[in-house]
Amino acid sequence: MKVDFVKPDLATSAALVVGVAAGGALSASASRLDDATRGALKRSMKHARFDGESGKVLSILAPHGVRAGRIVLAGLGRPKNFDALAASRLGGVVVAHLQNSGERRAAVIVEPPKHSPLDRTTAAAHVAHGARLRGYRFDKYRTKRRKADQPSLGRFTVMCPEPGKARVAHAPLDALADGVFLTRDLVSEPANVLTPPVYANEIRKLTNDGLDVEVLDGERLADMGMGAIIGVAAGSQHDAHLAVVRWNGAGRDGSEAPVAIVGKGVTFDTGGISIKPSSGMEDMKWDMGGSGVVVGLMRTLARRKARLNAVGVVGLVENMPSGTAQRPGDVVRSYSGQTIEILNTDAEGRLVLADALWYVQERFKPRAMIDLATLTGAIIVSLGKYQAGMFCNDRRLSKRLVAAGQAVAEPVWPMPMDDHYDTLIKSDIADMKNIGGRGGGSVTAAKFLERFVNGVPWAHLDIAGVTWTGESSPLVPKGGTGFGVRLLDHLIAAHYEGK
Ligand code: BES
Ligand code: MN
Ligand code: ZN
Repeated sequence: MKVDFVKPDLATSAALVVGVAAGGALSASASRLDDATRGALKRSMKHARFDGESGKVLSILAPHGVRAGRIVLAGLGRPKNFDALAASRLGGVVVAHLQNSGERRAAVIVEPPKHSPLDRTTAAAHVAHGARLRGYRFDKYRTKRRKADQPSLGRFTVMCPEPGKARVAHAPLDALADGVFLTRDLVSEPANVLTPPVYANEIRKLTNDGLDVEVLDGERLADMGMGAIIGVAAGSQHDAHLAVVRWNGAGRDGSEAPVAIVGKGVTFDTGGISIKPSSGMEDMKWDMGGSGVVVGLMRTLARRKARLNAVGVVGLVENMPSGTAQRPGDVVRSYSGQTIEILNTDAEGRLVLADALWYVQERFKPRAMIDLATLTGAIIVSLGKYQAGMFCNDRRLSKRLVAAGQAVAEPVWPMPMDDHYDTLIKSDIADMKNIGGRGGGSVTAAKFLERFVNGVPWAHLDIAGVTWTGESSPLVPKGGTGFGVRLLDHLIAAHYEGK
């Protein structure tokens, strides 16, 4: 779906979308259309009980007096709540409504209501952004589909008085959607296709965006003593890989410490010898979701030329059972030198991150380090599928993440980090074991990771509940969500750029 910006034109043949504020207050364009159609809008609203509530839409088909085959009324909600997020949701809701409707083009006349915090240009840019986000599809493996089942909507036109300015305001959001789409693509890709070496090659392609990419292969990781990540890969036909992606946007003097983003990239998690039950195991193709966010975010930062130094590091492995797989009871030596007793081979994500985190803090001395991982089923028990769990050793970072999450509707919930939970991973034979007891599984996992961050300001986001969705929402169609890209892009723009 293509997005473009033009001046308002009520005589368009596209499906015409106009806003209605809460309580049924028509926007200026809606009012003119109501006149042109001799009151069809107001009459339709009454018959359908449409009152301009945010997220609601009402189609009026084949109205007399206009060229458009349909007029769509879109609820703006309460004017003072019509902010950037509300504008983007509006774009998303309109796309959801029209995507398979038979309409080939939508034209939205963007008029933020009086008392909205948005000007028309900003509103236009965010409507377009929301439309793009919701218009995402992963169709590459479909070879047969009836025409009537294919999406009809190919073009989404945003109408505003200063289209040139709106295009400029939309540019960084375009880069953001590009990053989200890359994440969604990676997360959706089946595990027979996206193996660790293939994934590493995909990441190498980021050089086309102006990013520096380095890939450490299994041999190199073994030489360096990364026994934790290597142990996870032991049962797989595919070697472990660690990819390092760098964006240097802070200016000539490359001395600014980077923000580091680290991701769990388990391309498939069978559980290993501690094998998972077969029901639902297909979901474990998206156990690389954290790494997908890192890769998508790096693309966004490069494409919008973010003014900071950032480094993204992902550990890529497949967790398989086989004659060469690691066993419960094995002890491995991590890159940090700390030894780990493996009591459950299904607690593999923390092993991957242990070596990645230690490597990142040692090599890059980051200002802040944030990891993302589909780490525990327990976080879904705690928080469900709406918020991610956030574990953080730094007050300021924690507050900033919560605020960023609210702003972009990718909420994160602060979880406890008391030292009590650290005592639960003491081992009888090694420095630690890789599982705690029953209960608090997400917290003991986070405390495990904390042993590998060496005191740098750090946050861990457990995204197991939010990486994939079975239900669509205004900005996110079913499937891979890309949760985390918009959150971290917002965090970086608000606090780490040009400072
Ligand atoms: N990848 C899983 C966590 C997961 C579960 C992600 C469901 C998404 C949906 C992780 O590697 C895992 O298996 N964790 C175990 C840890 C346990 C063995 C301590 C879990 O959550 O059961
Ligand atoms: Mn696992
Ligand atoms: Zn896993």
